[in-house]
Amino acid sequence: MTPSREPERRARDVLDPVHFDALAGGAGSERTLTGNEDAFVRRRLRPRVLRGPGTPDLSTHLPGARLAAPVVVAPTAFHRLAHRAGEVATGEGVAAAHGLLTVSMMATTAVEDIAETGAALWFQLYVQPDRAFTADVVARAEAAGCRAIVLTVDSPVRGRHVRDERHRFTDLPAGLVCENMRGRDGRLRDLVVDPDLGWDAVAWLRGTTSLPVLVKGVLHPADARLAVEHGVDGVVVSNHGGRQLDGALATLDALPAVVDAVAGRVPVLLDGGVRSGVDALVALALGADAVMVGRPVLWGLALSGADGVRAVLDDLADALAHAMALAGAHRPADLTPDLVVVP
Ligand code: FNR
Repeated sequence: MTPSREPERRARDVLDPVHFDALAGGAGSERTLTGNEDAFVRRRLRPRVLRGPGTPDLSTHLPGARLAAPVVVAPTAFHRLAHRAGEVATGEGVAAAHGLLTVSMMATTAVEDIAETGAALWFQLYVQPDRAFTADVVARAEAAGCRAIVLTVDSPVRGRHVRDERHRFTDLPAGLVCENMRGRDGRLRDLVVDPDLGWDAVAWLRGTTSLPVLVKGVLHPADARLAVEHGVDGVVVSNHGGRQLDGALATLDALPAVVDAVAGRVPVLLDGGVRSGVDALVALALGADAVMVGRPVLWGLALSGADGVRAVLDDLADALAHAMALAGAHRPADLTPDLVVVP
């Protein structure tokens, strides 16, 4: 077992096996889930020497956020399956690490309560067929202090999660609900993934909020180009952590063409399979402005609550700084594609 799998193994030991699988699993044969990590393992670094990298400066500017390191917590549903304090503990850990948390529309804690932790927040959105309700959710997120909307675009239908099917896991345990799916009247709505959603949703969203809008779930360079043409403020290269289209390209393999298509006009983020500082370095060298991490944060949360989340983020930033120094880079902009090879 590689060291990067150790936190997952330890989380498996403390979680209900059905809940562990709900968090760890992917779609179908899970080839995209494993492919994301394998894509990093295939890469090797060709460091530069005698560049006097000094103490690395990881500071990064993203829509609505100045960060000490180019690492963002990806939106993941159901944190109360990982830890009883759920997204509040995640928020506390992120705040302690001076990080940035993307709150999932499927969070088991209200965005207002997560905001009280003081963590910097983005809010992830699935545009609902009921646009008035969607606008209310966006307004809630904005009022709570979220600094950008992350529009997930890779889910016209739900991925088939084989582990959940095997366990017949269809409903959250009693007492847990998606708290951000309440309307103004307090009534809960079911989350709908909309097979009819098109690019007009981006224009609609931009007319609904003054917050920056990022699209998450782009793999094809033509879509990256369209996203920029539709005025988005950032593109997240993502295959939903292998939970949507099984067989989709590993995000790291999709990254260079997207970076070319975006051509520096907006930030490009990548998620999927980032497990170490070296992984983050590889993604930055291939053109990402920042990485997002999903499951590692859930494992930190499961193992030690807020402290565990903080440790995951601090360790990742420290390891990235260390790897940058060894590769001869002072700041992320010094990381260029020639540093990464597939031998
Ligand atoms: C997710 N992801 C996700 N994405 C999103 O846009 N909205 C969501 O509600 C969720 N929920 C969710 C739950 C769980 C348990 C996982 C593991 C993932 C996808 C997530 O944002 C991100 O794309 C991946 O998790 C990144 O891959 P890694 O870091 O988990 O490999």
